[in-house]
Amino acid sequence: MEKLEVIKQELSGLTTIDKLKFLANKYADRIIFSTSFGWEDQAITHLIFANNIPIKVFTLETGRLFPETYYVWNRTLEVYNKPIHAYYPKNDLLQDMVNTKGPNSFYESVENRKECCYIRKIEPLKRALNGNEIWITGIRADQSANREDMHDLEWDEGNQLIKFHPIFDWTLDDVKNYIKENNIVYNTLHDKGFPSIGCAPCTRAVQPGEDFRAGRWWWEDQSKKECGLHATEDSLKAKA
Ligand code: ADX
Ligand code: SF4
Repeated sequence: MEKLEVIKQELSGLTTIDKLKFLANKYADRIIFSTSFGWEDQAITHLIFANNIPIKVFTLETGRLFPETYYVWNRTLEVYNKPIHAYYPKNDLLQDMVNTKGPNSFYESVENRKECCYIRKIEPLKRALNGNEIWITGIRADQSANREDMHDLEWDEGNQLIKFHPIFDWTLDDVKNYIKENNIVYNTLHDKGFPSIGCAPCTRAVQPGEDFRAGRWWWEDQSKKECGLHATEDSLKAKA
């Protein structure tokens, strides 16, 4: 895709901060960063807020996040005094699902789980991304075998925009060091065996040596563990 190639050229050789600044300038008001308040996202939030880079920051408030996650969210607002926009599920969709199937339907089938992820994350994500040309995420290559094959800049066919993962090549130690050096608030669940943190009922701690994402939707087959936020990863591989 030509547009992607042009941006790749423009970003080559720049530091992470300068890449964000360049894109924020080029795509003013059409560039957005999604945070789930995990430590990768906190590192990026710090890069954006501490350097006053004009990139809108948003979160998908599923209503089922960990108390620790809400704490990080609140502290981040206090520390930087910058807005973090929350996108909520549509009330009628959520109400119908819960009234029909109960509050924990996601444990009963993959179909139910995907329905819940659609209502609480995917549909609100579409509203958040609407009108934007660049979507920034905290994805890193070594988070999963699938992600290793991705690139820091990608065309997202489903959402019709470019995704940029500014810390794609950072190792987990790079992230931890950056958090420590800059005294960035982070989710204490990371210190309790949670490398990847999603909704509370759908995330558990992993054992040493277990896969980074093994604690997400742990009751499902490995092959079905896809929430849909980054559902186009596989198709992107083919296009890269
Ligand atoms: S997921 O697909 O399994 O849910 P993961 O937790 O690895 O994704 O997070 C990858 C990136 O997706 C994060 O860095 C963040 O940009 C985005 N993300 C995940 N969950 C949320 C959320 N609830 N709100 C906003 N962004 C999110
Ligand atoms: Fe629902 Fe669990 Fe998906 Fe959160 S991760 S939206 S609670 S199924």
